[in-house]
Amino acid sequence: MRHSTPDQLAGKALQAYFCHINNFYNKNIAKVFFFAYSALGFKQPHFFICNERQTIMSETTATLYEQLGGEAAVNAAVDIFYRKVLSDHRINRFFDNTDMDKQAAKQKSFLTMAFGGPNNYSGADMRQAHAHLVKKLGLDDSHFDAVVEDLAATLQELNVPQELINQVAAIAESTRNDVLDR
Ligand code: HEM
Repeated sequence: MRHSTPDQLAGKALQAYFCHINNFYNKNIAKVFFFAYSALGFKQPHFFICNERQTIMSETTATLYEQLGGEAAVNAAVDIFYRKVLSDHRINRFFDNTDMDKQAAKQKSFLTMAFGGPNNYSGADMRQAHAHLVKKLGLDDSHFDAVVEDLAATLQELNVPQELINQVAAIAESTRNDVLDR
């Protein structure tokens, strides 16, 4: 992978900023920006064109949800994920009395929210949803690890880049203490 120099990165940030403003006020007007801002410490002048298709801003601010591929991708991932969970002997007993259609729907809206997509989650919070599993069925770290593993394997199967899988795993990880009620 080629690394950008600090000058190039700063140039890209300025481009994103100015094109964003340009697009906001003049949606259909292409504009050329030219900067010779040695005063700002740049060694070379920067030159760029903005138009209504300028996407740099949205690329740099895309949510994890968007980067994963939005609704279709999250839905596909949750379906595969629960297929894995239900055939995983380390954890499938926890779901013996669970309506899996409802569960998948709740998980889709929870993960959509957790990944920065639209927030339509109306289910229980993570502590409330799992406390009875901790108390009655001994839900612990080993089961949590298995769920994270199945989730990562699902995303690998869907060819999601490792960098995004790491971000998903970090979000799952952030719920651990609530899920395990501690
Ligand atoms: C990344 C961590 C986890 C997340 C984000 C998560 C998410 C959710 C969500 C959104 C619900 C629905 C809550 C509701 O009913 O309103 C739920 C329920 C449930 N979760 Fe999790 N969960 C996680 C970890 C686990 C683990 C480790 C297990 C067990 C191995 C588990 C087993 C269950 C079960 C059995 C239910 C349904 C309970 C019932 O039928 O009443 N979850 N979870």
